[in-house]
Amino acid sequence: MSYQVQLESGESFTVNSDETVLQAALRADLNLPHDCTMGGCGTCRIRLLQGNVAYEEQPFGLTPEEEAEGYALACQARPQSDLVIAPGRTADALPEVQRTSASIKAITAVTDSVLHLVLETPEPVPFLPGQYMNVHLGDGSTRSFSMASAPDGRQLDFHVKRVPGGQFTESQLSQAQPGQTLDVELPLGSFHLHREDYRPLLMVATGTGIAPIRAILQSLLDDPDCPPVWLYWGMRSEAELWLADELASWRERLYEFQFVPVLSRAGAQWQGRRGHVQDAIAMDFDDLSEHAIYLCGAPEMVHQAKSAFIVRGASIDHLYADTFNFAHQLEPVEQEQAA
Ligand code: FES
Repeated sequence: MSYQVQLESGESFTVNSDETVLQAALRADLNLPHDCTMGGCGTCRIRLLQGNVAYEEQPFGLTPEEEAEGYALACQARPQSDLVIAPGRTADALPEVQRTSASIKAITAVTDSVLHLVLETPEPVPFLPGQYMNVHLGDGSTRSFSMASAPDGRQLDFHVKRVPGGQFTESQLSQAQPGQTLDVELPLGSFHLHREDYRPLLMVATGTGIAPIRAILQSLLDDPDCPPVWLYWGMRSEAELWLADELASWRERLYEFQFVPVLSRAGAQWQGRRGHVQDAIAMDFDDLSEHAIYLCGAPEMVHQAKSAFIVRGASIDHLYADTFNFAHQLEPVEQEQAA
């Protein structure tokens, strides 16, 4: 059985019984925003104005609060009736994706489990801070890593989590030498700073999810239009806060910048915040209705943070999340992915 889907703008398309709303829209050459296509990132969020949908599995990227407000995820939603929908967001104009080679300039361990990788491409590749790159491996698989710095000529900067037993990050990258080349594709993804959404910024990261957040913040350094910025970074222990000194030093270069590391397994000497990062924010903010919120990290954190923040007035229209690079960490180690 097929159903008709009509966009608020008047265009319409047919969804066949074996398709999701997104698959049918793309088949009809309608560019609905999307990214992971796995129900994790929330980029494909649509608002259901009429009709209803069902999911084979409840998508992780949709909170009960969002669903109650009439939102659905087009990449997973299967119509149960004719629909009228409004895209959650208009598709952004993103830089062109390029496939190129990149040589390793430097690779150093910054913690027991994180490598700092510096690559150089033959020509500068334009990207938006927050986007990511795929490394193509010889077996046809790819690994995804977010750029950790704002665009800087031919150089690209990454903070790569070493996955124990991982084919790429553990076996190949740990042994890699400067001068070796990688087959890469970039820029990818739609996570980036929405300058048009000019509000106080609340940036929230866990683990190497700090990488794209760092790139975004670096692009705001010394910017006279920088809004107030709060950054919360959740990690387990002090030893893992490899960027803490640098981030703290940006206090003078970002407007009203507050940097709050939050540790879930801090040692006895730790004087700072403890627990989970989303809980710390929920304690610190009664009202998040005026903020633009950027979330990057483990899907569980993003999911819980969205729910907790919406209760405190955060608007779904001003919430931007990137769980894509982490989604495959839920799968076997061969699927290693890291931001
Ligand atoms: S594209 Fe649908 S949730 Fe990511």
